[in-house]
Amino acid sequence: MILTLISAENITQKLKKALPVTALESVDSTNLLGLKAARDGAISGTTFVALRQTAGRGRLGRSFFSPQGGLYLSIVLRPQTEASAALSVTTAAATAVCRALDGFCTEKPMIKWVNDIYIADRKVCGILTEGAFVPNSTRLDYAVVGIGLNLTEPAGGYPPEIADKAGAVFGKENVPDEIKEALAAAVLNEFFALYDDAHIQNGLEEYRRRSYLDGKTVTYQKDGNTHIARVLGVDESVHLVLEENGQKIFLEAGEVSVCVNKQLKQH
Ligand code: BTN
Repeated sequence: MILTLISAENITQKLKKALPVTALESVDSTNLLGLKAARDGAISGTTFVALRQTAGRGRLGRSFFSPQGGLYLSIVLRPQTEASAALSVTTAAATAVCRALDGFCTEKPMIKWVNDIYIADRKVCGILTEGAFVPNSTRLDYAVVGIGLNLTEPAGGYPPEIADKAGAVFGKENVPDEIKEALAAAVLNEFFALYDDAHIQNGLEEYRRRSYLDGKTVTYQKDGNTHIARVLGVDESVHLVLEENGQKIFLEAGEVSVCVNKQLKQH
């Protein structure tokens, strides 16, 4: 395996706002590092960037495949808002990642509700926001937003369970460390253009414009049953709006699978 290294200094030089950045070759999970740092009092904006993770964390308790060839970063935040604003952190991050990727690739990055980034029908990025409440309150003490980008396809391909949906921003092309540093800085700059602790702009207008699922036929699970519906869009509350048997349905959370040529593609 070729060991590649990125430098925190090269990233911070490109930032519009001074942030404490730690860059690592490998780590169990940048989110775990971020959560520990937050518990230990790290300031908002503290960022961890790694080139691979040995125990990457995904949504719904899943693991996140994080081999060399990716870019994994987590940002500690201290939003002075109600916990309900946590969703705005995720939508701001999704919008920020798309804007950052716009500067590096020709295909338009799209957002698959709630927090996946797709390019050319392949998932190239997942986002996971974790955090903790101020004890006995509905306010957030801290949040950690984790962003996992697949940049180059792993030499052995993706594991079978994600092989039909995962993709990489640069395909099979190797990405120089300078590009990884520039991309990390671009993501941070775009994110902090939307976010500050006192006020989170969720980037929702752009998030909705980039909705990958619009017009697609999808399935979703409810009360143990599989439902099939057409996606109308994402509303102001970040609910997925579906049309099912002539009725409008609003999904607040969960996952949907896109139907491809009447076959189901699990996402
Ligand atoms: C998902 O698609 O289920 C969300 C994946 C989020 C992965 C990122 S990679 C950086 C950060 N560290 C983690 O362990 N997870 C997040």
